[in-house]
Amino acid sequence: MIASRLLSLLIAASPVFAQTPRPGVNYDEEKVGNDPLPDLKVTTADAWMNSRRGEILKLFEQHVYGKTPTNLGAPKFEVTATKMDALGGLATRKFIHVSLPERPAWQGMDVMLYLPNGVKAAPCFVGLSFGGNHAVSAEKDVPLSTRWMRESKDKHIVNHKATEATRGSESSRWPLEKILKAGFAVATAYYGDIEPDHADGWKEGLRAAVSRAGVNTTWRDGEWGAIGAWAWGLSRIADFLQTESHIDARHLAVIGHSRLGKTSLWAGAQDERFGVVISNNSGEGGAALMRRDFGETTAIITKVFPHWFTSQYANYAGRVAACPIDMHMLIALAAPRPVYIASAAEDHWADQKGEFLSGLHAGPVYALFGKKGLGVHVQPSVDTPVGDFIGYHNRTGKHDVTNYDWTQYLAFAKRHWGL
Ligand code: GCU
Repeated sequence: MIASRLLSLLIAASPVFAQTPRPGVNYDEEKVGNDPLPDLKVTTADAWMNSRRGEILKLFEQHVYGKTPTNLGAPKFEVTATKMDALGGLATRKFIHVSLPERPAWQGMDVMLYLPNGVKAAPCFVGLSFGGNHAVSAEKDVPLSTRWMRESKDKHIVNHKATEATRGSESSRWPLEKILKAGFAVATAYYGDIEPDHADGWKEGLRAAVSRAGVNTTWRDGEWGAIGAWAWGLSRIADFLQTESHIDARHLAVIGHSRLGKTSLWAGAQDERFGVVISNNSGEGGAALMRRDFGETTAIITKVFPHWFTSQYANYAGRVAACPIDMHMLIALAAPRPVYIASAAEDHWADQKGEFLSGLHAGPVYALFGKKGLGVHVQPSVDTPVGDFIGYHNRTGKHDVTNYDWTQYLAFAKRHWGL
């Protein structure tokens, strides 16, 4: 028990650790699992939309992420601040407090919205952050989060409050000026507002607040985990954006990195208002095929981060072939909407090839709609974006979101939305 706790702490600890090959973890392409992928059973576009899509969604609820409750009542949106000349006049910045009047135990989340000035109704990227709004934006007047924070990149689980030193610490992952100058809005919130990211985080977050037994809840198979809760938060941001006149709510792209990339895929699978779905280095439990057992595995992720998933998922540790889904089916749940999968060349932990292959094997669903997916059958060389309705690239460098990634996402959204 102590050993596994230690292992958890070590693996959870640092993104650097996440890059380093770990003993006992397979990084050998010759030794990847070769169990056949579950059949997508595609027949016609109508059958996909009217029955098969729903069946697969249910399988992901039962076996991976759990079911998202739909009885939490209407969210309330309060605009708490508006600044018309943010980022030197480039944008209007708003803060919106989102709460659940019927579930007052949840403290709510603070959405930060940047609207490009001069654009009547902007398409919008929607994503959660690891560090809070003040980490996404370096602007001095963005309030510091007062909620649970990772103490530092190396101490992940400890309760801690944000400090001035973390202002702008995530800004390289959110190139606001670049996005706004391209005519897009950005809507973001802190994932810790929804649920602190550690084994007991749910007790202070949304899941306990809306569960009948509160902090005494025993989570059963098929009930939601943290990824489900975070994905729910993304959909509430979409709800707000429907009410914002300066947003073109038909053009919302959901985006996330790493565990939040898993979240973005799950949000995009459930909520078809996200017209473009983007997974940045989402890896195991996200875009990477679980049956390959390359880099992080189902066994590792369910041991180290059990709180992310529904409890049933852990039953596939060491026996992935027994799981009725694999991640090409998660990508397919975005169909026929455009979906983008990005890998990073040094991010073996996330299994770049497994991320590519889930896109490849989702292709038949896009074909039903007469749409081209990746357009290639072999993983492209680094820094060579490919794809039509399924985009993919493997960028030089490590596990991160970079300017290069954003260049591709902006071009992808523009191309598909005719902007
Ligand atoms: C760890 C974890 C990954 C996750 C990543 C992250 O490395 O094993 O599954 O994607 O953290 O969220 O940064």
